Amino acid sequence: MSLKLVKVGGSVISRESSTDKYESGVVKRIARELQPYKQGLVLVHGTGYVGKPPAIAYGYYQSGLTSRKDALAMLGIKQELRLLNHRFCETMLEQGIPIMPFGISHLFTPEMDRVEEGGKTELTRVISNGFVPVFYGDLILCDDGCFKVFSSDIITLLLSQVLQPEKVLFLSDVAGVFNTKKQHDEPETQSIINELTPEIAASLEQSGNDQRDVSGGMSAKIGCAFEISSNAGSCFIGSGNTPGIIDGFMQGQEVVGTYIRT
Ligand SMILES: Nc1ncnc2c1ncn2[C@@H]1O[C@H](COP(=O)(O)OP(=O)(O)OP(=O)(O)O)[C@@H](O)[C@H]1O
Ligand SMILES: [Mg+2]
Repeated sequence: MSLKLVKVGGSVISRESSTDKYESGVVKRIARELQPYKQGLVLVHGTGYVGKPPAIAYGYYQSGLTSRKDALAMLGIKQELRLLNHRFCETMLEQGIPIMPFGISHLFTPEMDRVEEGGKTELTRVISNGFVPVFYGDLILCDDGCFKVFSSDIITLLLSQVLQPEKVLFLSDVAGVFNTKKQHDEPETQSIINELTPEIAASLEQSGNDQRDVSGGMSAKIGCAFEISSNAGSCFIGSGNTPGIIDGFMQGQEVVGTYIRT
């Protein structure tokens, strides 16, 4: 069975102003677009407005490691992330996507550097029965009682290593990788790189937003995407806010966005 791994950006599914910071309308539309591709589908979602502001407020946006004194607050953030995942899964089910939620401690090694032995068997069992595993970015408990950020882009990379999917799609809040740095509040006037090679990527400047993003924003995503492209048939970064991108990419058509080429 050909596998499709789709990472839905937290930037797409969350809004500061929405109830529980969850953007249900967008997820509903994405679920409908994924409907024809649910066989062999694996989903990962990010944390967006739920996960990123606390990283700045508690000062772990650079290290990804939280302080012991903030443990109670971190447990609160974990609850909010779980709620976001709950809402995402609820919408997917309502739209007829047979999702099966997974926490990160389910399948990954304690070092969070690969899928556990046996994890592939479990994933294959779930997928071959027609179900869609769903993972999400979270904080994981370290041996010293602190928490560490486990980013959804890294989860996508680790899953690609065991699944060797035919297609990997990153849906984000931008139409692709821009050829210049872009800040959140700037108009999207830059041109989109249609095919991103390591040489072109090396010439991109890291934006200020990425430096304050606990999971590294677009620059870290590009790094993951290059690694993923050696495990996948094709890897693409496109807009989760524009209808038609999912279908076009899945059908192998030319769509607006960035193909990763190594
Ligand atoms: N060269 C670039 N091209 C496009 N976006 C860029 C670039 N450099 C930095 N960015 C920033 O990267 C952001 C997308 O990454 P971000 O991590 O915010 O989204 P996401 O990965 O979809 O969401 P999440 O991390 O919550 O899952 C854009 O909104 C933009 O501000
Ligand atoms: Mg991100």
